[in-house]
Amino acid sequence: MATLPDPLSIRQPDHPIEPIFLKRWSPRAMSGEPISQDILNSLFEAARWAPSTYNEQEWRFLYARRDSDHWDTFFNILVEANQTWCRNAGVLILVCSAKTFSRNGKPNPVHSLDTGMAVQNLMLQATTFPQVVTHAMGGFDRGRARTALRLPENYEPECMIAVGIAGDPDQLPEELRAREEVTSRKGIGEIAAEGPFSF
Ligand SMILES: Cc1cc2nc3c(=O)[nH]c(=O)nc-3n(C[C@H](O)[C@H](O)[C@H](O)COP(=O)(O)O)c2cc1C
Repeated sequence: MATLPDPLSIRQPDHPIEPIFLKRWSPRAMSGEPISQDILNSLFEAARWAPSTYNEQEWRFLYARRDSDHWDTFFNILVEANQTWCRNAGVLILVCSAKTFSRNGKPNPVHSLDTGMAVQNLMLQATTFPQVVTHAMGGFDRGRARTALRLPENYEPECMIAVGIAGDPDQLPEELRAREEVTSRKGIGEIAAEGPFSF
């Protein structure tokens, strides 16, 4: 049985950083084993402590575990390409966010940014559990998510996250197996510049 690669043995940072940033990656090979409620609670707990504008905490997480009545509803929201491998996830999460401030009802221009921070907290926390993997997805039907999960008008579906136990990459369809790679990143010079925009 093939095992997933260890990102820490592949990713080389150019400058010193905490290993947790390198350890998080997005495999598709998942085993179909369940995720315990304790682990799930730790993931949401980490998300809970993310910063947000005015401490708005406008993120909301809806989820389905694979053995629950909700599973099919969440699974059917995904685009087919994601369904192919998500069938072996333990939990599917739909992340949404409130588009307006709770204190005055005005539009919140950073609701997605805030929510992205919470999502990253969740995914980084997952790396602390042996064999637990996460994979964020933008490939889902937003209209269907809104209807099937009864999102209020004021809430925007942001992304879905598959949480699972690491699986055997050989079980993936050929095309996805080839993409089961630990990725690298642009250099700092390509993403950060002192002064005005100069890329
Ligand atoms: C918001 C968001 C949406 C994504 N959508 C998908 C998706 O629909 N399907 C998929 O297989 N991967 C998806 N990804 C995973 C990215 O392709 C992946 O994070 C990127 O290639 C970097 O690789 P790494 O996460 O392994 O470091 C998404 C990631 C993010 C953050």
